[in-house]
Amino acid sequence: MSSASTANADARLKPKIRLLMVCLGNICRSPTAHGVMESFISDRDLERFIEVDSAGTGNYHIGAPPDSRATEAALKRGYNLGFQRARQVNASDFLEFDHIIAMDKSNLTDLRGRCPIAHQHKLKLLLEFSNGNQDEVPDPYWSGQDGFEQVLDMVEEACSALLDSVATDIPVS
Ligand code: 4NP
Repeated sequence: MSSASTANADARLKPKIRLLMVCLGNICRSPTAHGVMESFISDRDLERFIEVDSAGTGNYHIGAPPDSRATEAALKRGYNLGFQRARQVNASDFLEFDHIIAMDKSNLTDLRGRCPIAHQHKLKLLLEFSNGNQDEVPDPYWSGQDGFEQVLDMVEEACSALLDSVATDIPVS
């Protein structure tokens, strides 16, 4: 069997690794992380093995597209956030996703309070995967365009490292 068909067979046998990016409103940071990670997964031809979604801990923006400042900043770097719509984290997310990635400590605390004990190990901060000296992706909602560029810088670096880490769980063909 060729390595490509072996990889396809493995992909059929094993469920995809599922990542959920989480912030407060699901209109700025987590859609950015969702779009960046989706693009990195595609660049590395890993769509058969890994998928990504995003959600907010809050319910303020359910059904809304990403903030136009986030969409514009992302598009300038080649990431399309246009198809996303905000949703709130729900109880089944804790069961269905393998890695639930919070943008800041407040999001993480919120998730910890809602997540069943058996799934708490899935909860992480995105910047655990970064070499920078910050722990949190700052909320850009009340900032200017610079805040959205800073979010993109941090998210790109951490998502690349997160994908390296997650990719080690893909079956070798
Ligand atoms: P996000 O940013 O959590 O990165 O989506 C925010 C968006 C909206 C609000 C706060 C943060 N808000 O208060 O409406």
